[in-house]
Amino acid sequence: MWRRVVSLYPLLSPSKSSVLHRAKSGIASNEKTPFIVFVLGGPGSGKGTQCAKIVETFGFRHLSAGDLLRKEISSNNENGVMILDTIKEGKIVPSEVTVKLIQKEIESSDNYKFLIDGFPRSEENRIAFEKILGVEPNIVLFYDCPEDEMVRRVLSRNEGRVDDNVDTIKKRLKVFAALNLPVIKHYTVRGKVCKINAVGAVDEVFEQVRPIFTLMVK
Ligand code: ADP
Ligand code: C5P
Ligand code: MG
Repeated sequence: MWRRVVSLYPLLSPSKSSVLHRAKSGIASNEKTPFIVFVLGGPGSGKGTQCAKIVETFGFRHLSAGDLLRKEISSNNENGVMILDTIKEGKIVPSEVTVKLIQKEIESSDNYKFLIDGFPRSEENRIAFEKILGVEPNIVLFYDCPEDEMVRRVLSRNEGRVDDNVDTIKKRLKVFAALNLPVIKHYTVRGKVCKINAVGAVDEVFEQVRPIFTLMVK
């Protein structure tokens, strides 16, 4: 139902009556109204790890912006080289590219609960998402982690990522502070941010998240 209704509306100018429009801020949800959670935090703060726990416990669809971009690189799509160069530099890929990838996943999903991980990374990302999809997140999770812990985690991640090295991590931390913190500030002012202490064992961190979802997601 969700997929069919969404596809009836033009992608770049969502109608006020579209299903996406009904996902405005609010805590309750039902099968026809998407429930959107942005999952933010610096590189290595544990976003992906925590998303896996949330998926397992609360049945969300996990959309990692970084994973979607890496998939574009490995499938040799037209933007692949540009995306690879941007990731190597720890910079942010142009918003229209990333938003389109996320939009495609949302619109083709049978689920209505989405964890959008590592997005929005900048005010430009945020504005593009809200404009193109016509919705705001219901909640924003912010995994707060000291820089030295993030560096330690990234350098021991061992997934063969081109950006998990000392030089690129320094750049990513700078980009996080300059571009991502303003997004967190924006949603804090709107009362949407749940700040999580990302230090501790994976399960301990998750125990801070569990009550938020138990209360807010129906
Ligand atoms: P992000 O998606 O925020 O970049 P990840 O979830 O990929 O972070 O985690 C980065 C690395 O840190 C991974 O190797 C992961 O296993 C590890 N990690 C995640 N959460 C914790 C934690 N609470 N304590 C220690 N290591 C963690
Ligand atoms: O979230 P993740 O660590 O997987 O992101 C890896 C890289 O992907 C980022 O450092 C950035 O270069 C790119 N990215 C982006 N825009 C996003 C998310 C990730 O450009 N919204
Ligand atoms: Mg990740």
